[in-house]
Amino acid sequence: MDDIECVGVVGGGQMGSGIAQLAAVHGLHVWLLDSHPQALQKARDFISTNIHRLISKNHLSQAKGDETIGRLHFTSKLEDFHSVDIVIEAIVESEDVKKKLFASLDGITKASAILASNTSSISITRIAAATNRPPQVIGMHFMNPPPIMKLVEIVRGADTSDNTFNVTKQLAERFGKTVICSQDFSGFIVNRILMPMINEAFYALYTGVATKEDIDTGMKLGTNHPMGPLQLADFIGLDVCLSILKVLHAGLGDNKYAPCPLLMQYVDAGRLGKKRGLGVYSYPRL
Ligand SMILES: NC(=O)c1ccc[n+]([C@@H]2O[C@H](COP(=O)([O-])OP(=O)(O)OC[C@H]3O[C@@H](n4cnc5c(N)ncnc54)[C@H](O)[C@@H]3O)[C@@H](O)[C@H]2O)c1
Repeated sequence: MDDIECVGVVGGGQMGSGIAQLAAVHGLHVWLLDSHPQALQKARDFISTNIHRLISKNHLSQAKGDETIGRLHFTSKLEDFHSVDIVIEAIVESEDVKKKLFASLDGITKASAILASNTSSISITRIAAATNRPPQVIGMHFMNPPPIMKLVEIVRGADTSDNTFNVTKQLAERFGKTVICSQDFSGFIVNRILMPMINEAFYALYTGVATKEDIDTGMKLGTNHPMGPLQLADFIGLDVCLSILKVLHAGLGDNKYAPCPLLMQYVDAGRLGKKRGLGVYSYPRL
């Protein structure tokens, strides 16, 4: 199965809605599923607003924009994925929840379909083991926001086939992305390196080394990062950062990955970052 024409995206949050938009803009038929009706409606509004913005900025013609919207389908029923060529999963960063979903997808999708996870850190090998098709399970890790960021990190599980890798790589390249390949170890490449920095920034804040503004300005101007680690954590989602750190800590067994208590407290308090309007910083709703 080499020609991808139809993609199923599971999870219509920050990542899933961006991936669905990207796929539709690049000519694929897309089914976007979310288990929460409100999230599905939010994803529909978000994608529609983005496509109209692309039209108004002349990045997309009116006709192409209309065609893109026509290729997008929204659903809450997994059965609608029976004819998709590839699924890209972007639900909550929980191994148990992802495994349950992959087992269901294995029973519903056609035998040739590839099952990809956008997981930031969870083992592809273990997710694959929940299915009867480990050679067709792979990590396809987009960066946030998927339509803008140039990188896709592809993660090969222990049994991922060369064909699955090649088809997934071709798809990412069709989306205009640069691909890097990681073996299946917790956090892969990007989060293995990024999350300890974000965690250390929380420790610096927690222990009173500096204000949040000075920590972020220090890393922006001192190391030429486009945004500081605390602001980046807000953009990623503090709950997502915490989940990734827990996976790194458990998977690599080193206490240097133990999440900072301040990060845990923010998540407990519902300060999840930009998506909730409040994280390390506050983001007034416009
Ligand atoms: N946020 C980032 O910067 C980022 C970057 C790369 C990868 N990721 C990964 O992408 C995935 C999603 O992250 P996000 O930031 O989009 O999260 P999010 O919280 O914005 O969205 C998750 C969505 O999944 C839905 N959902 C949860 N369980 C579901 C299920 N069983 N079936 C269907 N829908 C379900 C929720 O309703 C929600 O709309 C995670 O695995 C995360 O680690 C996140």
